[in-house]
Amino acid sequence: MYLSKEEERILDGEMGEWRRKAMQILVTLGDVFGAERLIPIRSAHISGVSYKTLGDEPIRFLEDLSELGARTAVDSTLNPCGFDLQRPDEMGTPDYVREPQMRIVRTYESMGIDPALTCTPYYIRKRILGEHLAWAESSAIVYSNSVLGCRTNREGAPSSLASALVGKTPLYGFHLDENRLPQVHVKVNVGQLERHQFGALGLLVGKLVADAVPLISGLENPSLDDLKAAGAGMAASGMVTMFHAEGVTPEYKMGLPWKEGRPTDLVEVDERSLKKQVDDLSSAEEPDLAFFGCPHCSVKEIQEVAKLVAGRRVAKGKKLWVCTSRAILDAPRVSTYVSEIEAAGGRVFADTCVVVTWLREMGVETVVTNSAKAATYIPSFCDTGVRLASTAEAVRSVTEAV
Ligand code: F3S
Repeated sequence: MYLSKEEERILDGEMGEWRRKAMQILVTLGDVFGAERLIPIRSAHISGVSYKTLGDEPIRFLEDLSELGARTAVDSTLNPCGFDLQRPDEMGTPDYVREPQMRIVRTYESMGIDPALTCTPYYIRKRILGEHLAWAESSAIVYSNSVLGCRTNREGAPSSLASALVGKTPLYGFHLDENRLPQVHVKVNVGQLERHQFGALGLLVGKLVADAVPLISGLENPSLDDLKAAGAGMAASGMVTMFHAEGVTPEYKMGLPWKEGRPTDLVEVDERSLKKQVDDLSSAEEPDLAFFGCPHCSVKEIQEVAKLVAGRRVAKGKKLWVCTSRAILDAPRVSTYVSEIEAAGGRVFADTCVVVTWLREMGVETVVTNSAKAATYIPSFCDTGVRLASTAEAVRSVTEAV
């Protein structure tokens, strides 16, 4: 891979050991994927934050990097951690988790990374079509490529951190026009879908196309939240990095995908296959926790839950949790919706999500959620049962009329 004089000096360690380490990761990655050179990025989003998924070993590595003086070169944000930093007691966070989790967050922060602690960094700062990013967190990657028209590969924790420190990423994969063309046409014949069905559709598409770029036709009036749910599903079951939706997503509308013509490979999703996908994730009965916010809720999604709890309250022995980012909590009108949900006995948490929290320690045995991605991960990450349901059904199943 071609390196500029300055990049070579960084790689030779002339500009600090931490920069050398970061550059080494990017050069190795670039060589593996045949990148021609490095390009500047506008933002990095870093995963590997939750103590539950990270564990003890990497903490020392991060602290060493910070002690060497590592500092970010571009705007950088963090994925969710293992509890709401302001309300750990209400989440039943075990004591042994708190200190190491705080060390992780503080170490990243000491390097200049914004502790946004969210998987929806696109709600924090406006993104521009065509800008290059180095994002980890699969749901955010799909959303930024597909719905926002930004360009990022599927980064992991080390490569996103390295890009944050250098301010660059290797030029390959989804940074290049030719890799963003649709490869499989997915025809959806199911009419209007609810949010949880969009997520389930995403799971089906991910299984059908694996790591190819799908062009999805037949979606009826999808909202941005619907596209977010579908993309999160695709990334959870497959290796989808980007999709196009006919008449909806920006690059479809710009005509970019059609430079080489439409894909000839065709797969179809009908009502039966979608119903089976939902049913496969809906076997558990009697949920004791309803969870909304995978990926983290938008303002509109919090408002939807607030409307549904009106005139109801969370039943004895049950919980209702909404997860979002602190940036969304600070948005206009949100405090009203939060008050309504919490007055009904629910909780609205920031900084975290159910998948990376300690549910068993709270006595939770079964979760109901409107997120197909969460329903996929919860059984293995949280060791509980799960039920995928519509937002309304999930609210009803843990609340009672007052
Ligand atoms: Fe976000 Fe947690 Fe889902 S990090 S995408 S809410 S699994």
